[in-house]
Amino acid sequence: MSRVALVTGGAGFIGSHLVKKLLHENYKVIVYDDLSNGSGKKNLPKKINFIKGSILNEAKFAKSCSKADVVFNLAVKPLPMSFDNPEEVVKVNGLGTLIVAKTCTQLKKKLIHVSSSESYGTAQNVPMNESHTFFPTTVYAASKAASEYYVQSLHESDGLKMVIVRPFNCYGPYMRDDVYAAAIPNFYHRITKRKPPIIFGNGKQTRDLTYVEDTVNGIFLADKRTKAIGKALNIGQGKETSINQVAKMMIKQYSGITETSVSSKILYKKERKGDVRRHFADISYAKKILGYKPQISLEEGVNKYLQWALNE
Ligand SMILES: NC(=O)c1ccc[n+]([C@@H]2O[C@H](COP(=O)([O-])OP(=O)(O)OC[C@H]3O[C@@H](n4cnc5c(N)ncnc54)[C@H](O)[C@@H]3O)[C@@H](O)[C@H]2O)c1
Repeated sequence: MSRVALVTGGAGFIGSHLVKKLLHENYKVIVYDDLSNGSGKKNLPKKINFIKGSILNEAKFAKSCSKADVVFNLAVKPLPMSFDNPEEVVKVNGLGTLIVAKTCTQLKKKLIHVSSSESYGTAQNVPMNESHTFFPTTVYAASKAASEYYVQSLHESDGLKMVIVRPFNCYGPYMRDDVYAAAIPNFYHRITKRKPPIIFGNGKQTRDLTYVEDTVNGIFLADKRTKAIGKALNIGQGKETSINQVAKMMIKQYSGITETSVSSKILYKKERKGDVRRHFADISYAKKILGYKPQISLEEGVNKYLQWALNE
């Protein structure tokens, strides 16, 4: 019998890739999403059961996940919203996660909760392992940190079977360009219009950029490997790259693929509030517990992204 997964936020960027991965691994998939942000249903395969609903609707969520063996929780309100409407971000990312975790506890469902490297804030020491302090620099990051504590506490008090996954910045096809970490799609839109990519700050800020197929493989392995239960694990590339390097790499690759000459100029704008300065993941724990190993280098991933974007 196939394992049944319910994916909250399954219509979103990472969620839609996870859904395809789970179908490929012979899971039956229920997507539970209120379609409030993200790209809607257009990136979802036909072979799923789609339920339009909010994780804040406790009764509907409980009914929807009664047939699932495992819940992957990816429903989220994005970082930029936390500047204009922090209450909504806390409601969905914090209270919403509590409702998901409480329901999974009551119905005895396994929960794979997708948190974020944003919870750590800027690196105090590198590479950043799972014991790195939480020092959130935005309400979004704080809501993701809080979400982990709700999941962790129900594991401790009521035996919730859970795994927490902390992805570092993820990129790839179907990535939205209206989110905070959308450097790659935004650079692409500028380069393709022959305009210089815009960087906020001096571009020396670093990220551990991970291709979405590697990220979803890490999330999938969190369900697969029973050793992971009760643990929190970083999922990243395990490499640090500055935003300047990303912009230069994209200009070079775009010129090569399209056989056009593109100016290497970059437009620098004022640093954004809450932007972390440095992210560099230690992924040794995920390697040990999950057997996770990223397969796609940044050069390959950027190339794959550009090939996809140029054919869109
Ligand atoms: N994208 C990244 O680089 C990144 C990095 C680290 C962690 N994450 C985490 O991965 C998860 C997915 O992120 P993403 O980038 O795919 O986000 P996304 O914004 O593309 O998708 C989020 C989905 O959640 C849905 N949603 C919002 N509110 C909801 C609600 N109340 N009930 C049900 N569904 C709701 C949206 O409609 C959307 O389809 C999040 O938990 C995020 O914190 C993302």
